[in-house]
Amino acid sequence: MLLEAIDLKALIARQRPGWSLEQPFYTSPEIFEIERKGWLARQWFTLGHGSEIPEPGCFMIRELLGESLIVVRDEGSRVQAYYNVCRHRGSRLYEEDGRSSQLNCPYHAWGYRLDGSLRSAAGLPAGTDKSSLGLRSIRVREIEGLIVASLEGDPETGEMLHRQFADGLGYQGIDRARIAARRSYPTRGNWKLVIENFIECYHCLPAHPEYCGVMKHVDLVAREPNPAGQAWQETAAAWLDKGANPECPITPLPRMLLFAPCGTGRAPIGGGRLTQSEDGRPVAPLMGLQPRFDGGVSSFRCEPFIFFAALNDHAVMFQFIPVSAEETDVRLTWLVDGSASEAQVDVARMIWLWDVTTVQDKRLIERNAAGIRSRSYEPGPYTGLEGMPARLVGRYLSELASGAA
Ligand code: FES
Ligand code: FE
Repeated sequence: MLLEAIDLKALIARQRPGWSLEQPFYTSPEIFEIERKGWLARQWFTLGHGSEIPEPGCFMIRELLGESLIVVRDEGSRVQAYYNVCRHRGSRLYEEDGRSSQLNCPYHAWGYRLDGSLRSAAGLPAGTDKSSLGLRSIRVREIEGLIVASLEGDPETGEMLHRQFADGLGYQGIDRARIAARRSYPTRGNWKLVIENFIECYHCLPAHPEYCGVMKHVDLVAREPNPAGQAWQETAAAWLDKGANPECPITPLPRMLLFAPCGTGRAPIGGGRLTQSEDGRPVAPLMGLQPRFDGGVSSFRCEPFIFFAALNDHAVMFQFIPVSAEETDVRLTWLVDGSASEAQVDVARMIWLWDVTTVQDKRLIERNAAGIRSRSYEPGPYTGLEGMPARLVGRYLSELASGAA
């Protein structure tokens, strides 16, 4: 479909509330381009973990919405992020992660301080205002080790994320964690299909036997009617009363299972499991300020792109990066305590649950995307167990409408 052929406002207006979207929202490069320049640019994304740039001068090169970014730790140990574009004639500065006392352009050797300001530029005409030639920055925050960023998002959202996440991430020891494993699951499907899949559990029972075997809250969120749901609520409430580490600052149930678009939550894994391994036994040493294994899982989320889960002994950082109308990068990073030795971490048992689940999701999403490409595809109704994707799609449409030309 050509850009001129899309009357976006009319298309948005005819979407039926509570139903999935029409085909172009999942397939059209033109709509993706509109999103990329506007709505997506205002969203916040997880860019990485602080341990990837541990010292001042360490930088990493990351892609976000078609932009190459330099994410660097500055002299004051703060994380900064700049477009990887020289202010002279636009060359990329770096292709790979590295470390340097200043950021250098390989083309004509302009040099920038770690705060992005232009330090040196040979032969610059007299009178040129160097202060106007610093690297262009984007909004970025490091919240107890979790690096989140947005190309054009409002700073209030960054502050809100900090307020909501900092105590919990600190308690879970994310600021002192190290990366133990990372896996990539490039998925041939629009980012909405990836996120819709991630935030509903209607598909959990038919598609994720391992996840359902481990996560007992599935009794509550994957069945309707769900007589077991009440029992789960009672079990979880009893866990909070007696089993959970009481000093944990993260909001407990029941709110965790009634996820707000942005917030934190905590619940037991259930079934006597201490962590999300196949047998429930630990896979790594305790993290953070947790005094003992209590079998809890803490969730940090800000829809649609920030999701982070912390167990007693490891944490999982989820990254969903839209690449094109029909491609999404899905990347999972597993974190353990920074002082845990290789021998103390059982990587295979640690990654088992989310690796097997994400491989299953990739297949589901790609089949979903393939079906949506059919001329016969029409939107279908979300069920009561898909309230979260329905809410997200509604919010997306209204925000796109308010910004649509
Ligand atoms: Fe970077 Fe010329 S383009 S110094
Ligand atoms: Fe899934």
